[in-house]
Amino acid sequence: MSKPDFLHPFARPGAEVGDFINIVRGEGACVFDDAGNRYVDALASLWYCAIGHGRAEMAEAIARQVEVLEAFHCFEMFTNGPADELCSKLAQLSPLGRTRVFLTDSGSEAVDTAIKLARIAFDLAGEADRHLVVGRRNAYHGVTYGGLSVMGIGPNATGWGPMVGGAGGEHMIDHDDLASAEALFSKFGEAVAAVIAEPVMGAGGVRPPAPGYLEGLRELCDEHGALLIFDEVVCAFGRLGRWWGADRFGVRPDLITFAKGVTSGYQPLGGVLVGERVLDLLEADDSFMLRTGHTYSGHPVTCIAALTNMEIIERESLLARADDIIGPFLAQRLSELLDDGLVSEVRGLAGIWAVEMIDEVSNFDVRRLLLESGVILRPIGATTIALCPPLVISEDELLAITSALESSIKALV
Ligand SMILES: Cc1ncc(COP(=O)(O)O)c(C=O)c1O
Repeated sequence: MSKPDFLHPFARPGAEVGDFINIVRGEGACVFDDAGNRYVDALASLWYCAIGHGRAEMAEAIARQVEVLEAFHCFEMFTNGPADELCSKLAQLSPLGRTRVFLTDSGSEAVDTAIKLARIAFDLAGEADRHLVVGRRNAYHGVTYGGLSVMGIGPNATGWGPMVGGAGGEHMIDHDDLASAEALFSKFGEAVAAVIAEPVMGAGGVRPPAPGYLEGLRELCDEHGALLIFDEVVCAFGRLGRWWGADRFGVRPDLITFAKGVTSGYQPLGGVLVGERVLDLLEADDSFMLRTGHTYSGHPVTCIAALTNMEIIERESLLARADDIIGPFLAQRLSELLDDGLVSEVRGLAGIWAVEMIDEVSNFDVRRLLLESGVILRPIGATTIALCPPLVISEDELLAITSALESSIKALV
């Protein structure tokens, strides 16, 4: 055996060539490996594939754009039609009121950009000392240093050296615990630039907010003059039955990060919805230059993929499927597993769910058996299995997922 040249993300560098499953094709809610095995994709790949795999319409739209203009940068005075059209569409759907859109290539870059925008907004306001960025324990905000600094999954931050000063670290609060947020604000109040939170915590365990929690964070930010950032890299584009998690919970943040579902993964794209409070500061001095951006910010092929993806979501009414089909089905079937004592807790809503393993069952063993039964699910943390299927998934495929989950757990108790 030998090691692959591909040094895989979030994987053991010691893994051998034969340890990997080579996915070669996708169709709807399923993918296929090079041995011809079919798997139901129960996590929408990595929480992103809303419209399903293998859409010819997407391939055609992407190819058409490459033929006309594969790319040209958008720094300074250059722009392109797909980027302008996408940003207008996102601004129109934005829950923030007046909105402009910054584009990145990934969710991590979107989070780093949101942190930078929050800090520079206060710098422009003459409040450079207001630079603390507060994150939440267990939250995931990506792997670049900004997002890594404010995320709360300990092992992910271990060994990488010092994190970004004033971001995360001692400035962390707990999910669903407004008292911890109040304590932090009473200690650091006027120095807090922003609080970052996922409306539903995803990779940190699929944890929907307690009633009033997000509203409470909003109130605390308002009271202390801080900005509220919603990291919607997982929650947006239908996962919670709406375009935005902010819409679902009726709470208006100042900045929203997005990625993943914006293209369903057909092209890598992320970005930040920037609301009025930040915009007013960025726009106040006409000579101010926003010195951040990526080579591919506004890449026309990624923007065409996003526009086509959103068109498909609208045409096929996919937002409604999270609440009408996936949510009720998984709520029912997963609660049966709970009633039978096969799992110890069920959490989730709409298109995103998780089950907690009982003591004698390992989530990694369950994942292994599920793979053998043709279902890809993701173990998260030490005790959780997450479910987040493509929004196009059928009830038969949902049944295949929950039946395989049930038999895999039964085989281990
Ligand atoms: C909430 C959240 N923020 C940020 C990220 C990072 O996105 P990316 O992996 O595209 O950099 C993720 C990825 O899973 C995420 O779940």
